[in-house]
Amino acid sequence: MKDLTTELSADEWDEAKFPRAEVQEFDRVVERAISRRGFLGGTLAFGSGAAVMGTAFLKATTAHAAQDSRFAFQQLAPQTDGTVHVPEGYSWKTLVRWGDPLFSDAPEFDRTTGHPAQGSDRVFGENTDGMELFNRRGVELLVVNSEYPNPKVNLTESVAALEERNRVIMEQYNERRTAAEAAGTELPPEPELEDQIVSSADDVLLLQQIQGVSVMEVVEGEEGWSVIVDSPYNRRIHHNTPMVLDGPAAGHDLLKTAANATGTRSLGTFNNCGSGRTPWGTYLTCEENFNGYFGTSSEVATDDTVMAGYQRYGISTDIEPGRYNYHGYDARFDISRNPNEPHRAGYIIEIDPWEPESTPVKHTALGRFKHENAAYALTPAGRVVVYMGDDERGEFMYKWVSRDVYVPGGDTSTLLSEGQLHVARFDDDMTGEWVALTPEATGMDAARIAIFTRMAGSAVGATTMDRPEWIAVNPTAVEGYCCLTNNSRRGTLAEDGSVRTNAGGDPMVVNAVNPRETNRYGQIVRWRPHDDDHGATTFDWDLYVMAGNPTVHQNGLYAGTANINAGNMFNSPDGMQIDTTGLIWIQTDGDDDNEGEFAGMGNNQMLAGDPVTGEIRRFLTGPKGSEVTGLTWSADRRTMFVGIQHPGAPFPDGEGALPRSAVITVKRNDGGLVG
Ligand code: FEO
Ligand code: CA
Ligand code: CA
Repeated sequence: MKDLTTELSADEWDEAKFPRAEVQEFDRVVERAISRRGFLGGTLAFGSGAAVMGTAFLKATTAHAAQDSRFAFQQLAPQTDGTVHVPEGYSWKTLVRWGDPLFSDAPEFDRTTGHPAQGSDRVFGENTDGMELFNRRGVELLVVNSEYPNPKVNLTESVAALEERNRVIMEQYNERRTAAEAAGTELPPEPELEDQIVSSADDVLLLQQIQGVSVMEVVEGEEGWSVIVDSPYNRRIHHNTPMVLDGPAAGHDLLKTAANATGTRSLGTFNNCGSGRTPWGTYLTCEENFNGYFGTSSEVATDDTVMAGYQRYGISTDIEPGRYNYHGYDARFDISRNPNEPHRAGYIIEIDPWEPESTPVKHTALGRFKHENAAYALTPAGRVVVYMGDDERGEFMYKWVSRDVYVPGGDTSTLLSEGQLHVARFDDDMTGEWVALTPEATGMDAARIAIFTRMAGSAVGATTMDRPEWIAVNPTAVEGYCCLTNNSRRGTLAEDGSVRTNAGGDPMVVNAVNPRETNRYGQIVRWRPHDDDHGATTFDWDLYVMAGNPTVHQNGLYAGTANINAGNMFNSPDGMQIDTTGLIWIQTDGDDDNEGEFAGMGNNQMLAGDPVTGEIRRFLTGPKGSEVTGLTWSADRRTMFVGIQHPGAPFPDGEGALPRSAVITVKRNDGGLVG
């Protein structure tokens, strides 16, 4: 389909996209959505003249330089090199990298080849993501997710063996070709080169053990922060760690497997993306793209319910090794032999960091989907609310409300297992509803709602979103924020001319909360629950920011909202935390080629946003190729811990070394507060 948005002016685009009568209503809706008139009382709108009349409000202007800026730093310019940058007056340092020892018996890390499979459960994991810091009587524990592996970097021996096999294939081909040329006969066909890196049970074991969760004690000394190797709290949780299942799906037939005939236990946690915490001091890890670890060695023949689940959750039934090829060496991941195994993944898992021997609990009541993170709030009555996003194009946002109230020091065992899961519907009139996923509303029983939550959301008409990533709750106001990172298919047409859908067939039409067709930049939605109660089922919403590129698109939706300017551009907001002062820290996972639609944005980055003035400033940039994801603070709020995932450059060890995902610390040089 012709991309109208890049070839027409905003007005022309409007006219072509929507008949005039409709565009006026649509304009009003989007204007209200991004002007925050309702939330700010019109006192401090975005840039000068913003939020007025027709589409003019969409014209990006120089950022409103708030007189009373709350930022304690000058904006950092975009960067394109292979290292981390922070503003003047701040410093950063590497705390821990993939392969660093948590225990003194860990294998040594070689800077060019990595580490072996044996002992790979004794080191800090790969591809750092969500993290939380816990403090008890001066002991600080940093708990960090390791989301996914990078076989090209993690399995250097297998990569070398693959390259050698391909070298031999090419050598033999060249010999045949030379001979054919000499003889004047038909040239041989070009050979197909191999691309399968994962090629042994040891390879699979190594990958399984460098993902999951790392728990480690950290301490600040004269040289900065360090991990206390061999602390009794240190722990690695990975793809084979025993877990308990609780909630409505526990014990259900769909969870029974060869490894656990009762359906009440599970092995491992997968694709641990964002994080969360509970008011009672436990860690929540969130299973996102769990589907990618399962595969099949033969034709899959199972019942329609299970097959429909595979289809909705993206579990491949193609007979192929896939990227990780677990099923080639570990039958648990072969769905032709263990069709229910994928049903034990896709949950929120609670880990008690203070009890290294404790068994993590998979809370099925909070639903099964591609969980990004888990952000809690308390209702005025003391019920526990957990907001969650399902990061896939056109999937939904969810909210859990506990049945019982949280009492400090009291019993917390039911708070994530007894209650009600809801899914979000965002209406174009700037209100929305959390729709309860009950058997009556969905036509599904409680266990199936927990296992096939996406289908339950579809059944009640949830709003298809532009890939919900992290959700953050503002501790200084009763409101929540969600990064909607991008959606290249929003509003686009399938081959038959119909609007594209999510995997469940729900159309991804353009709507007020996802207002851009082919959304390449992303936006952050904010909602305020009615009655200042996170337990309320209704809310008002607006867009805190629509990212965009005002230097490429002088106006129109792709220029972004007026709090985006040539100086602070970014795309694909993803990680997000709100600090104790109410500033929003936004991390990006987007296109960092710095060209075309993304010119001037530089590498992925972390920005700070003021929810009151709308102002956004760039604070940190990651190395080329990396994603900046995961953020938490030391107990004294004088150190930020920031995650640098999958650096494309040899970060942080320098020339000739393997790139290593790392957690860094960031401090103010004067020792001041950073959140
Ligand atoms: Fe793991 Fe949606 O990011
Ligand atoms: Ca993410
Ligand atoms: Ca992302």
